[in-house]
This record gives sequence, C-alpha cells and structure tokens, in this order.
Amino acid sequence: MAKKYLVYMAQVHTNFRKAELESLADLHNITSIDFDKYDDNSPFLLVELENDKQAIDWIKRSILTRAIYEYWGEGQDLESLHKNIQSQPSFGHYKTLYQNDTFKFDFETYRGASKMNRIKQIESFAYLNFQGKISLKSPQQVYTVIEEYQPISDNLSSTVPIKMYFGRLVQHGDRVAVEKYDLKKRPYKGTTSFEAELSLVSANIAQVKPGTIMYDPFAGTGSFLCAGGHYGAIVIGSDIDGRMIRGKGASQNIATNFKYYKESSRFLDVLTMDFTHNSLRSNLAIDTILCDPPYGIRESIKVLGAKDPERFAGKENVEIDGEKAFLRRDYIPTKKPYALDSLLDDVLQYASERLPIGGRLAFWMPTANDENVETIVPLHANLELKYNCVQEFNKWSRRLLVYINRGPDYHGETNSGLSRTANFRDRYFNNFN
Ligand SMILES: C[S@@+](CC[C@H](N)C(=O)[O-])C[C@H]1O[C@@H](n2cnc3c(N)ncnc32)[C@H](O)[C@@H]1O
Repeated sequence: MAKKYLVYMAQVHTNFRKAELESLADLHNITSIDFDKYDDNSPFLLVELENDKQAIDWIKRSILTRAIYEYWGEGQDLESLHKNIQSQPSFGHYKTLYQNDTFKFDFETYRGASKMNRIKQIESFAYLNFQGKISLKSPQQVYTVIEEYQPISDNLSSTVPIKMYFGRLVQHGDRVAVEKYDLKKRPYKGTTSFEAELSLVSANIAQVKPGTIMYDPFAGTGSFLCAGGHYGAIVIGSDIDGRMIRGKGASQNIATNFKYYKESSRFLDVLTMDFTHNSLRSNLAIDTILCDPPYGIRESIKVLGAKDPERFAGKENVEIDGEKAFLRRDYIPTKKPYALDSLLDDVLQYASERLPIGGRLAFWMPTANDENVETIVPLHANLELKYNCVQEFNKWSRRLLVYINRGPDYHGETNSGLSRTANFRDRYFNNFN
C-alpha cells in the first residue's frame, strides 16, 4: 500500500529542481509520484511511495532536496497539527511501529524563526507515547516539526508560522556534497571551473550512474568529471588545451583532485584531444556525456587545422632532426577558429552515435536575454530534448540542455547547420547593448 511522504526541498535553483527529482525517480523506476503537484514557489511536495527504501533511493543523491519524511500530518498551528496527526489513518500503526526506538525531536523553519518554547512544543506530543530512550547523538528515529512562515515584508520576518508539518525523517538529501566539492577547497581549479552545486545537479539530471562511463569532451579543469565521480561513474575527459589537462604540475591537476576526494578509482584518464577529431575507439561504451562546451568567452573555440590553408600548404612535411615534426612529442598542432553552432551540432551527432538508447547527453549553452531574439536550442533527429533548465544572470542566461538518445526510429525535429547562437560572443563583449 502506498504511503505518504513529505519532500522538503532547498528553495534554490528552482528551475532545476523538478528535473532533478524526476530524473532521480526515473533512475530508480519510481512511477507513483504526481509531479503535477510540484510548485517552484514552495519547498514542499507531498508524494506517495511504496516504502522507505524507495524514498531513500530517490532522495539520497538529490542536491536540491533537504530531506524526505514519512508524513504524519500538518496544520495551521500546533493545535490543528496535533488534531490532524491523530486523524490520519496510519496514525495508530506508525505510533506502535517505532514505539520502543530511541528518538529525538528536530525543528526546521522555512522563511522565519520561531519564538515558541521548543521543550513545551515537544511535550505537547506526549500522546505519541514513545517508550524508547531519547538519544540526541544517534537516535533510531528523528521526528521533525517543519514550520513555514510568511515574512511580513522584505526586511521583517514573522515569528508565527502559517503552516506546520510533522514527520519521521527517512533520508537527507545530499547537500553536504556541495560543501565537499566547493571550488574554494579544490586543489586544482581555474577560471573555467564550474561551481559545485550545479555541476552535481547536472550529473543527477544526466542520470550519471555508478559503474558506467561518463565522458566530458571539454573537460577543462574537470569540474564535471568530479561530479560524475561523486556518483560512482568511471570518468574520462578530453580537452584541446593540453595546459588544462596537464594542470599546474604534479600536485595540482585533475588526477590530484580525485585523490583529494578519495575517489581516484573512478578517474579513468584525461587526454589532450580536439573533440572534432575524436580518437576514442568507436566501440568504447560511453553511457553519459556531460559537459560545458567553449562559448568563446573565457576560452576560444578552436579545432585542429590551418587558419589559412594556402599559407600552411607543404608545411605538413616539415622534418626536425630527420623526424616528421608532427610526430614529435613537443609538436603543437595548428588550430583554427570554429563556430559554436557547428561544435554543438558535432556534440549532438557524436551523442547520437555513441550513447546507448536511453543514454543522456547534458551540456550547458549560453544565451543572451534579448526579448526580441528567440532562443534556438540545437536539435537532432535521434535525440529527445528532455530538459531545458535556465539559470538567469543579469543580461544573459545559460541553460542546461538534456537529451535522451532515442535512436534512428525516433525521427525528431532537427535544426543542424542552422546559425543559432552566432551573436552570443559579440553581444557578451559589447555588454549586451
Ligand atoms: C567552458 S570550458 C569547460 C570548463 C570545464 N567544465 C572546467 O571545469 O574547467 C570549455 C573547454 O573546451 C576546450 N575546448 C575548446 N575547443 C575544443 C575542442 N575543439 N575540443 C576539445 N576541447 C575544446 C577549452 O580548452 C576549454 O577548456
């Protein structure tokens, strides 16, 4: 029989929250959740699940969820909360089920702070008649009162809750990972490093799975590789810029980051490679692609090749000390500029060829916030565009695009070859005026 659970989410990155919860539910084949009840403006979501195991599986790696509780009831104030708890059909069952377990009470507040006497509040739950000992350090059960407040104004918070929930804690989300992977503490990072919270969320929406291979073709300092490693994937990265791959010496590179997180076993390798001249063998099973392609802002978009083929003609045969120059380890190949639209088309095509059916491609794409310019998202006939989650800045936004490989029978819309993002770089450097 289905049970009620209360999800208490962080009120941050709300454009990404539902996608994260849906993706994690899908990852664990949980189909009973009615996402129509989800509201970006509220941190609460009441759902039905089969049991605690489902709740644990679903929420334990969620970055944007604080916790999930077995739902015992709710009310406008303490009195109505108690009445509601005792009127729930599962009340008698729940009360006896955990009666002899050690326990403690906890309080969570949303948009306010209580002035109520917490001891008195706890005592008002005496009718639950718990027989177990109180344990503040390692209780078997944590009962939580969650209070929601309505601030009086922008600067004035209220001390009287508008709503109270009561539940038994089943599972915390994974917000501690945001601290763990905080860029401030990371040994190797650079100007292109992607913040911890949204890189972890991206990996969740991309459904990065333990024991599978995740590839970041524009790895830079390896932010998404770290996120993939956190979820147990075996990660591989590449970047055209060898300096990124080599890092800042033996103690500051992508591998040392994995050592720092004690996740070295998940780091397969990184290589210096132009994505458009991809040398990963074609039967290497890549389960997920997660990346932040170059936008031409902090780094240039370049591919192998001569900018001016006429001037380069004949130089491919240059020899140094009797050896072809391009075969020497110190050879730096010529590079030429490339359009972001073409690169994104290449990424979609690569994903359609390399991902398994159902595998996900997720990448970030910048867009200007011009009201009169339509944002055109790249599309490929084999890929279903599943999510388009926007993070707004002042004059521009970036969006996480998530695609599922549906294979050649999908026949989706395509816009390959179209100019979609061409003016972003110029608009950025002209301050979007
Ligand atoms: C936005 S950055 C990615 C940053 C990365 N997520 C990190 O954590 O540092 C894009 C990267 O793409 C690389 N890049 C540009 N053109 C490339 C190409 N043709 N093939 C592979 N990498 C390329 C750049 O050198 C840069 O490191």
